[in-house]
Amino acid sequence: MSEPIYEATASAPVNIAVIKYWGKRDTSLILPTNSSLSVTLSQDHLRSTTTSRASSSFDKDRLWLNGQEDVIKPGSRLETCIREMKKLRKELVEDKDANAPKLSTLPVHIASYNNFPTAAGLASSASGFAALVSSLAHLYTLTPPLTSPSTLSLIARQGSGSACRSLFGGFVAWEMGSTPTGTDSLAVQIADEAHWPEMHALICVVSDDKKGTSSTAGMQRTVETSTLLQHRIKDVVPRRMDEMIRAIKEKDFDSFARITMADSNSFHAVALDTEPPIFYMNDVSRAIIALIVELNRVSLEKGEGYKAAYTYDAGPNAVIYTLDKNVKEVIQLIVKYFPQKAGEFKDNLQVLGGGVADINQVAQVPEGFNEKVAVVREVGAVKGLIHTKVGDGPRRLGDEESLLGKDGFPK
Ligand code: DP6
Repeated sequence: MSEPIYEATASAPVNIAVIKYWGKRDTSLILPTNSSLSVTLSQDHLRSTTTSRASSSFDKDRLWLNGQEDVIKPGSRLETCIREMKKLRKELVEDKDANAPKLSTLPVHIASYNNFPTAAGLASSASGFAALVSSLAHLYTLTPPLTSPSTLSLIARQGSGSACRSLFGGFVAWEMGSTPTGTDSLAVQIADEAHWPEMHALICVVSDDKKGTSSTAGMQRTVETSTLLQHRIKDVVPRRMDEMIRAIKEKDFDSFARITMADSNSFHAVALDTEPPIFYMNDVSRAIIALIVELNRVSLEKGEGYKAAYTYDAGPNAVIYTLDKNVKEVIQLIVKYFPQKAGEFKDNLQVLGGGVADINQVAQVPEGFNEKVAVVREVGAVKGLIHTKVGDGPRRLGDEESLLGKDGFPK
């Protein structure tokens, strides 16, 4: 009798932190120096999809990313994740049921695909490792009640720290934990994707030609050399985590926005405090900060509260969080200073109202806005805008979405 096909496909979302993870206390287990908190973005716009198949006909574990083979090196994070998933399969399924197929002993072929260009400078490691772990979890039937997303987050964390937060939708905390083995350094959901439906995210893809310092290398240099980091991890973040969780639960956008911007600033301050200093933001990033600060100033003066919050990861792209009622104004403002290539922006969430062929036609600053806070840039300084919302956690996909052909190699 021929072997049945053991295969599963899953997709996973991107997450953007509002309290940043920056620093490891254990670099091989990927245990952080502080807790962090993120918002999961909708997979309708940004996602990684992964298919995993186990077969006795395969020679060894192999992985392809966007069609290109990525060699699984011994001791690599990839190898760790696959090994840990096989171990979980053995312990939770095969050791308990003598009839369960011994999938943990078979080599796997894994194909992964990001629906957004890596060149856009968007972190793909978080969604990538979350999709890898999710597809293996389905392949190995490591689903509830056998495991939970928090259990799987322990393994995704060892692929890339921020990946552990992509195991949940909505608003997600990564609790730093305290055990040396990392068993309590995991992701938990603070609120699900339906909790705050008014929340939108606008990603401003900022041109960046030079190759920057990777997160992994950068954060370790910060841990080794920055004195400011000690203040951040001991005093600043613990207090902010509590405040942020409360702000999210109470849907208090003013606090959410204030803390998000303060924490982005704090992270870039410790990067600057590193020896030699690390700069992730560029002039365009800073101009976007000036626009959001001025937008909020005008609004706060009118007693209308914060309208938007910026945050930046280890690169120049801005992510702006804003509410339904203000998203149109935010887009109009960004486009005013950063004109887009005509026809490029797809109003996929219909906030501009149908019929806007060229987004530059709607460019506008709000009343009372000091236009001198930034200069209008050439087309392409912000090379794209991605407008999205809060989304759900990993999804299991049907066989028709498989990335592997009949022969077990990428299609
Ligand atoms: C600035 O998760 O990419 O995006 O654990 O070394 O893989 P490794 O780092 P990574 O770091 C992300 C850092 C950040 C902040 C955040 O997402 O919390």
